[in-house]
Amino acid sequence: MNSGFDKIAPLYDKLARLVYGRAIVDAQVCFLDRIPCGADILIVGGGTGWLLTEIQKGQPDCTVCYVEASSEMILRARARKSTLPVHFISGTHRDIPVKKYDVIVTNFFLDVFSDDELKEVLDLLKNRIQPHGLWFVSDFVDGSGWQKALLTIMYAFFKIVSGLGVNKLPAWKKSLSASGLKPIARLFFWRGFIESLVYIPQTS
Ligand SMILES: C[S@@+](CC[C@H](N)C(=O)[O-])C[C@H]1O[C@@H](n2cnc3c(N)ncnc32)[C@H](O)[C@@H]1O
Repeated sequence: MNSGFDKIAPLYDKLARLVYGRAIVDAQVCFLDRIPCGADILIVGGGTGWLLTEIQKGQPDCTVCYVEASSEMILRARARKSTLPVHFISGTHRDIPVKKYDVIVTNFFLDVFSDDELKEVLDLLKNRIQPHGLWFVSDFVDGSGWQKALLTIMYAFFKIVSGLGVNKLPAWKKSLSASGLKPIARLFFWRGFIESLVYIPQTS
């Protein structure tokens, strides 16, 4: 499958760590110890798949469905020396198998959509989580002037290197709440520019 992230795939992790240092990793691993034993996990837009190795360290008994639009990214994820049973799907959120998962991971994924597109993505994903499930999200925050300025630069960069069609951060937290998800844990990284949350489905 062809995706705008193909070109940047060989450099993506290096670039992210150059700019954000350990924060980009810490933000994504900070809640992994909450994954239940033997969990059925869905990772969407997981990039090069380094998170698989981290998940395996804590939960070697879980299974993963890994859905990624960039064939170059998924090539790298497949090459990881992970002993986890991973079902790789080279496709988009629309190709996610119709079943419910114990854990959903969407790290730095919701930010590639416009608010309208995000609604479609979340309408689909909210039907893929178990009633007792956990949803891990790490993403950027646009609360202050410098954060907005940095996001403008980042979106301009990704427009050039990956043809990303959006130029501003969607209101992802608002959209998750509107989709019936409730945050139960949160941590901030990189002077508050990166936020990691654990959500659960709200029981009405
Ligand atoms: C900003 S990168 C984040 C990668 C990874 N989560 C990380 O933090 O290193 C977004 C990823 O989402 C993938 N992607 C974009 N749209 C997608 C879609 N509709 N379905 C699945 N993956 C998608 C891209 O190919 C890219 O690898």
